[in-house]
Amino acid sequence: MEVGKIVKLEIEGYDMNGLGVAKLDGIVIFVSKALKDEVVLARITNVHKKYAFAEATKIILPSVDRILSPCSYSTGCGGCDLLHMKYNVECQVKEAKVIHAFHQINKDNSILFNPIIKNKNIFGYRNKIMLPFGYDEDDNVIYGFYEKLSHHIISIDKCEISNPYVNEVVEFIRRYVSVFHIQVYNEEKHQGIFRGIMVRNNYKNEMMVVLITTKAYDFSNLLTYFESDFPLVKSVYMNINPNKTNVMLSNDYIHIYKEKTLIEDILGIQFNVSAGSFMQVNHDACEKLYLEALRMANLTKEMNVIDAYCGMGSITLSIAKRVKHVYGIEIVEDAILNANQNKKLNNITNATFICGPCEEEIKKLVNVEQIDCIFFDPPRKGCEQEFLDTVIEMKIPKIIYISCNIATAIRDINYLTKSNYKVLEVTPCDIFSKTSHIETICQLSLRDETKHIPK
Ligand SMILES: C[S@@+](CC[C@H](N)C(=O)[O-])C[C@H]1O[C@@H](n2cnc3c(N)ncnc32)[C@H](O)[C@@H]1O
Repeated sequence: MEVGKIVKLEIEGYDMNGLGVAKLDGIVIFVSKALKDEVVLARITNVHKKYAFAEATKIILPSVDRILSPCSYSTGCGGCDLLHMKYNVECQVKEAKVIHAFHQINKDNSILFNPIIKNKNIFGYRNKIMLPFGYDEDDNVIYGFYEKLSHHIISIDKCEISNPYVNEVVEFIRRYVSVFHIQVYNEEKHQGIFRGIMVRNNYKNEMMVVLITTKAYDFSNLLTYFESDFPLVKSVYMNINPNKTNVMLSNDYIHIYKEKTLIEDILGIQFNVSAGSFMQVNHDACEKLYLEALRMANLTKEMNVIDAYCGMGSITLSIAKRVKHVYGIEIVEDAILNANQNKKLNNITNATFICGPCEEEIKKLVNVEQIDCIFFDPPRKGCEQEFLDTVIEMKIPKIIYISCNIATAIRDINYLTKSNYKVLEVTPCDIFSKTSHIETICQLSLRDETKHIPK
């Protein structure tokens, strides 16, 4: 079997990421864009000793679970890998992925797996998009997503999972850059001005646009078009990134139009969102995620709580309403600035925000307060072991672990269960529909024999 060969395959099931699984000549083949029970022609894309990868190129016998993709770019763009699958099957694949991930920890079958929390809108849900600009072979200005494992831009004119109003603004900016001959950045030659854009929107479809350039540029003419034609654009920044890299954003933001922040409403709490703030990419699913985490925590007015990796404080301030005191810890200074503004904006007085790495800052709380519950929502790389060791030492009775990366979450949860914690329940939440990513919420509690004695 060699790369490029076309083979006929019968798809027997799914792997953890929704790839079809088939067998040929004794080796397992993981087939993208293929569904269980289908017969397909597939092109081999990667060969290992005991397994290979392939991409379905022709569906000979389609499954009843196949749907027509509304996206015209799904062949090139590596963004959404489950566009061809009915939503209920996508949810089943995601539930199975989470249960499988916990199988080592759940040897005694004691964990309660709740059904996946489904997404209301499986298209148009993304509230943040980042798009590099470039030129095609005919020197037309294009934008899109990088092809998998490459710096080649797949040109698009809209993204189906992105907000439709954002799609309109992005397309307008492309026309503007083209008509006014703003030189688009070429990474190889390290030449040009316009690198691309980042746009985020709030629950009212109001938008913040970040124009990414290699040097300061006069966009005043573009802003007059926003004023006349795009009233939903409420804030514009220029981000200046002169570096030779395909990392698009630098830390150098210049505010150039109207508001400095967007106002987002999450569970009735108002948030000032700045250009660099972390915010969950799907507003409705984010509210469901937080509500599920709050349900698991079963908070009361007597409790002191920590919200580790708190970002701009969106979980922290939802917790504040329900407890005696909450401490939010976050490493990014701007996010903590935002969090403190948000606290004021909502007249919340029982939240304290601490800026610094969780692994260090949590130690300062060890002898200050008896903590009854801790929420973790770490970045994809998970928690530092030093942080987990302090949590274990503090004997915090309840942990609510929220994660967008099941692999690192399992690593950390495993570490906690090898000490004095056990997993009670797990809920998958579909935030990133049409992609194989999954958000998970897990409740852990201290084993009885080690429970802390309240002061
Ligand atoms: C997945 S986000 C969660 C944000 C927030 N809980 C929310 O739902 O909007 C992870 C956050 O952890 C922060 N972070 C990353 N490493 C950190 C560390 N070592 N200590 C504290 N915060 C960290 C990031 O800046 C980011 O805001």
